[in-house]
Parts: sequence; structure tokens; C-alpha cells
Amino acid sequence: MKTNTVTMTDNRTGAMYELDILDGTRGPSVVDISSFYTQTGMFTYDNGFTSTANCKSEITFIDGDKGELRYRGIEIEELALNHSYLETCYLLLNEKLPNKKELLEFDLELRHRSLVHESLRHLFQAFPAGAHPMATLSSATAALSTFYYDHLEISHEAGYQEMARRIIAKMPTVAAFAYRHSIGAPFIHPDIDRSFSENFLYMLRAYPGGKMHVGPDGEYSIKDIEVKALDTIFTLHADHEQNASTATVRGVASTGAHPYVAISAGISALWGRAHGGANESVIAQLEMIGSVENVDKFIARAKDPDDEFRLMGFGHRVYKNFDPRAKVLKGLQEQLKDELHLDSNLMRIANKIEEIALCDEYFISRKLYPNIDFYSGVILTALGIPKSMFTPVFVIGRTVGWITQWIEYKKDTQTKIARPRQLYMGE
Ligand code: CMC
Repeated sequence: MKTNTVTMTDNRTGAMYELDILDGTRGPSVVDISSFYTQTGMFTYDNGFTSTANCKSEITFIDGDKGELRYRGIEIEELALNHSYLETCYLLLNEKLPNKKELLEFDLELRHRSLVHESLRHLFQAFPAGAHPMATLSSATAALSTFYYDHLEISHEAGYQEMARRIIAKMPTVAAFAYRHSIGAPFIHPDIDRSFSENFLYMLRAYPGGKMHVGPDGEYSIKDIEVKALDTIFTLHADHEQNASTATVRGVASTGAHPYVAISAGISALWGRAHGGANESVIAQLEMIGSVENVDKFIARAKDPDDEFRLMGFGHRVYKNFDPRAKVLKGLQEQLKDELHLDSNLMRIANKIEEIALCDEYFISRKLYPNIDFYSGVILTALGIPKSMFTPVFVIGRTVGWITQWIEYKKDTQTKIARPRQLYMGE
């Protein structure tokens, strides 16, 4: 008998089946069940894919028990504290950090590609006033595929890199347009003299003609510390292995559809409160709780099995110790609290929730810890980013992850259309 196998016995018949074990470079080994149906005539059942690996990947590694996250082997703490978002994008796409010259070229190319076709701008007029920016962003991203239809045929490295740089560069512009349309404000085009993260703040804040708000102290500028904070938030969101939106992008890729349509589907998947939409819900929830005196009442509701209320920003499918991204953001909150005047009432409520939950048997036994979304909202609020734009900020950061995973999928010669089976219980 081969040793690197799992043997299963069907206790109804005594039939035995042998399945190969595959070892990765890190993390749990995987049982290869691709021949399971052929061998046994049965399917496997795994509601929510809690035990199923969907692909082989070399991009991101998570050890949920240790609270570890690495992009291309490098720890997230190292990237968030010592490297920029654009360096992180380069790393994900090229499997190595850029040198000075490579970074400069990458940065310049992204600045130039940040403009969008004038016809795309007209698309926004079709959406009603007040439309949620996530809905508009998903639609406009799908519409980008009409401008770059030839991307469907690309199957070489230079083409992949171009399609990646294009979508990463345009996403902040499209997101800012989606927001400005939602409030009826005229669009601000990207300023190629500004860096990636600064440009996004500029497109959200500037007045027509590119003027910044003029206050009693003169022209209002974007502070370096704000740019650095947003840049770190983008880095922390850049990729996260096979989460719901990335699995969606890969699923759409498996049918052979256009990459930007796959990313549009990823944006839709991200919008839900269980996933990226949680960042908007966290602040809404903290505002609803209103003061530290009310925290106990809401903790009790979160623990009540008959109440659907959940603590937003708590829990994670993979992290069962702590979310390393949340740890970095908590440190950033502390660092910024005075300089950026973080909302002290919201922070007090959040700290109280965390303090109670971390000592409470309900949360301890279920391994529920604060996740990235628990901390990002307070910082985004201090950056003047409205709640409806919190999940679009997640989208901007994650676009590089989605396109990198899309490219990896395309280069894999073993892939098949994603087509799960079911346990039929109907008539
Ligand atoms: N508040 C209260 N109870 C919770 C929470 C919560 N936030 N999260 C999980 N539970 C309970 C849940 O009721 C269940 O209890 P029981 O075993 O008694 O039925 C148990 O913990 C396991 O929950 P689950 O829903 O089976 O766990 P999951 O791994 O399927 O879901 C999750 C993970 C993130 C969807 C869930 O924890 C949740 O809904 N959290 C709140 C939303 C949130 O913050 N999402 C952002 C995730 S991080 C950003 C990202 O990567 O997208």
C-alpha cells in the first residue's frame, strides 16, 4: 500500500478506497478527492467549503491558528510597516519586491493608466442619484471589459501584466466617480502628479478644477500621514487567499469569461456584510450602540441564539487566534489617534466591545476575535472617507489580489470549469 494516502472504508459494504495525500510547502496537507466519484459513485459534501481546497496557489499563505499571513512568502507586518502598497502590488504580480527603478516605472505607468475613457464617464449618468457606490463600481468594472475586449484573448506574460496594471490603476478613479455620482458632485479626474493613494483622496475631496477646500488657514492639503495610513490599509487588503470574492473571481475565470467581468463578480461577492461589507456595518453598528453604557446590551444580543444580531467585525472563517491585519490596524489607530483626531467616542465603544468579548466564554469558545474590518472604519472616518466608500476602499486594495489570482488560474494548465455537485433532497 502507498503510504502517502488516506484509506476510506464504506461501512455499508466494506469496500475500501485509497486517496492520495498532496503536500504543499506550508499548511495542512490535502486529500486529493478528484477521483472520488469515479471510485465510489458518491460525492463529498462540504457546506461552505470549510475543508475544501479549491486550487493550488503560490500567492498568499494563511496560518489561521498562528494568526499568520504572507504574500509571496513575506509576512504582512513587514509589508505593511516597511513597504508601500505599490511595492506590494509589484510583489504579488512579479513574485519579488521591485528595485528602485522598477518601482519608479511601475508607479509612472499606473499614474498614466489611471485615466478612464470618456465614454465610461457617461455610463455613470444612467445610475440614480444616491446609488450605493459598490453597485455602481461593480457595474462600471464590468463595463470596462467593453473597452478592453481584446484582453479575452491574451495568453502571454506582457499582456497579463498590462491588463493587471490597467485595472489596478483605474479602480480608484472608477470608485471615486461612483462616490461623486452618488452625491451629485462633478467628477475629478486623476492628477498624475500625485501618488496612487494620495490621488484617491484627492479625487474624493477636490472641488471642480482640482482646487482643494480653502479654510481659514489657507488651502487645505492632503497630509502625508493620511496618505501613509490609506496606503497601509490598501496593503493589508491586497490579497487573502481563497476567500469568497477571490473564489468567485476564479469561478468566473474557469468559464473563460473576460477578466474584468470576473473582477466585477468579485466586487459583488465582496459587498455582503459577512465579507468586505462588514467594514461599513461596523461603523453603523458602533454608531447605533452610541455609548459605552449600551455595550453590554449588544454583547448579550450577539450571544442570544434566538437573535440574528452579530457583532460586526468579529469572527473569521480562517483566523482562530487573531487576525494579523487587525493587529497592524489597531497599532495604526493608536498611532493616529491624536494627529488625525480619531473619533474618541467610537474608539471607546470599540475598545469596550473588544475588552468584554475577549474575556467572554461565548467568544472564547468559538474563537471569535476582532478582524480587519473592526478597526479600519475608525481610521477611514478620520480620513474623511464616507461610510458608503469603506467597501470600495477594500475593492481598490484587493483588485491586485483578484487579478493576480486570475492570472495564476490562466497559467495553470490543469484547471477545469468550477462545477460543484449537490445532495438532491427534492421531489
Ligand atoms: N457575532 C456573534 N456570534 C458570531 C459571530 C459574530 N460576529 N461570528 C460567528 N459567530 C458565532 C455563530 O453564531 C456560530 O455560533 P454557534 O456555533 O453557536 O452556532 C459560531 O460563532 C460560528 O459561526 P459561523 O457563522 O459558523 O462561522 P463562519 O466561519 O462560517 O463565519 C464570518 C465567519 C466572518 C462570516 C462570521 O464570523 C461573521 O458573520 N462575522 C461578522 C461579519 C464580519 O465581521 N465579516 C468580516 C470578515 S473579515 C473580512 C474579510 O476577509 O472579508
